[in-house]
Amino acid sequence: ITVYVPQDSASVSVGANDVAAAIQQATDEPIRLVRNGSRGMLWLEPLVEVETERGRVGYGPVTPGKVPELLAAGMLRGADHELCQGVVEDLPWMRDQQRLCFARVGVTDPLSTSDYEAHGGLRGLRAALASAPAEVVEEVTTSGLRGRGGAGFPAGIKWNTVLKADGPAKFVCCNADEGDSGTFADRMLMEGDPFCLIEGMTIAAHAVGATEGYIYVRSEYPDAVRTLRRAIDAAYAVGWLGGGVLGSELEFDLFLRVGAGAYICGEETSMLESLEGRRGMVRSKPPIPAITGLFGKPTVVNNVLTLASVPAILADGGRPYAELGVERSRGTQVFQLAGNIARGGVFESAFGITIEELVNGYGGGTRSGRPVRAVQIGGPLGSYVPPERFDLPMDYEALAEAQAMLGHGGITVFDDTVDMAAMARFAFEFCAEESCGKCTPCRVGAVRGVEVVDRIVGGQDRDGNLAVLGDLCELMTDGSLCAMGGLTPNPVRSALAHFPEDFLKEAK
Ligand code: NAI
Ligand code: SF4
Repeated sequence: ITVYVPQDSASVSVGANDVAAAIQQATDEPIRLVRNGSRGMLWLEPLVEVETERGRVGYGPVTPGKVPELLAAGMLRGADHELCQGVVEDLPWMRDQQRLCFARVGVTDPLSTSDYEAHGGLRGLRAALASAPAEVVEEVTTSGLRGRGGAGFPAGIKWNTVLKADGPAKFVCCNADEGDSGTFADRMLMEGDPFCLIEGMTIAAHAVGATEGYIYVRSEYPDAVRTLRRAIDAAYAVGWLGGGVLGSELEFDLFLRVGAGAYICGEETSMLESLEGRRGMVRSKPPIPAITGLFGKPTVVNNVLTLASVPAILADGGRPYAELGVERSRGTQVFQLAGNIARGGVFESAFGITIEELVNGYGGGTRSGRPVRAVQIGGPLGSYVPPERFDLPMDYEALAEAQAMLGHGGITVFDDTVDMAAMARFAFEFCAEESCGKCTPCRVGAVRGVEVVDRIVGGQDRDGNLAVLGDLCELMTDGSLCAMGGLTPNPVRSALAHFPEDFLKEAK
């Protein structure tokens, strides 16, 4: 009997390790316990799954205290119980997704190379190695894949720039410094299917002619770091990394580097500085990293989800991938539902699904049961969107037209108790805290922003201070060197535009 208990840090944080131990202690039956990744239905964690003839039957959320009762009720045979969720793949949340990037997350043993291959792993890399580098770049271009870190730059064009740049030394760097609040898909992928990321990076190396790769992970992700280290060792042991990858002529060495807790190190040039051993400060662009990147060499810098989308694209072709989605947003996006939400987690779907479907449909509205007042899309630098705009499709262009942004696909939900003036103030506070300090609009503007919001809320010369706030936002947008200062006005302006009443309360 095979039993699955996730080892993903979200599941472990709610007791999955204790549940796994309790199952092993409480049964004499010969079970094979697999520590899988999370399926992404976080409200059901720890979600225990049992392999049955009908498929994998899930029970959740399971506590260690419930284990004896579940075993007595026949959990190991998939019997019914109040915690039984039925066949996991048939649940609407799972059934309605189009899981390409997350196809194996929650399904396989993350550290088993044989499980990985048995579930379609390496098909993409094998296809890539049988093709010339330019053909691989062409396939990625055809797929329409755009950078999933937030900026949405076409991955094929970036790879082509690196391919065309002079060698011999080139690098592939994976940005796993997932700093946006309310986002966790990179972590779940790294903990739930690390070989997928390794395969994507190896395909990128072949495509652009790189011989070394670095994964830059934030230190706040110790479980991901541990899983990746073990996965890299396992990949070397079976010849998926190193000299002669899969018997080919490709040489690719992969290293892991752990950050030190700075949000700005998620900006690609700061990340490169940090990788080179310096303080994470933003570099001026141009030159772009694709031409002058790590140690001054041509470098592919892509987010975890961008690289982890590549194996499926190479395995099945760029064209089928491009058939998913809308307009210039092709393929799937891994949406992350967080904050005050009844059913939070990851939901991978083709672009074009609406905010309404995600937040009030699959997400089930707020956890508090109160009305949703706003969602923030795309992390702390993203705009607030009111329920009147929940008809918006989740794609790069539609959100940009509505003065919002998709970012890394995170949606954080707030109920009607939220104070939007406080959220605007928080945007400036966050920027002041995390600014690298290189340019004045961001370094000074963020501090001034907190003061101006305080004056407005305090009722001090409101009109004058609102004008100052407008000017400050314009200056930060136009004059900041990177997205940190440049996008901080997004949450501020959207809070002011949609919820002006929160700024006009009388001074307490
Ligand atoms: P950007 O627009 O400057 O660059 C996008 C990417 O395209 C970069 O990798 C750049 O080097 C590359 N690029 C541009 N022109 C190119 C060319 N001609 N050839 C090859 N490559 C080229 O945006 P940036 O500053 O890298 O990212 C901003 C975004 O980051 C924001 O929109 C935000 O959503 C996101 N973000 C994500 C976070 C996360 O935790 N995932 C945290 C904070 C921000
Ligand atoms: Fe640094 Fe802020 Fe300027 Fe970016 S905008 S370079 S974080 S000071």
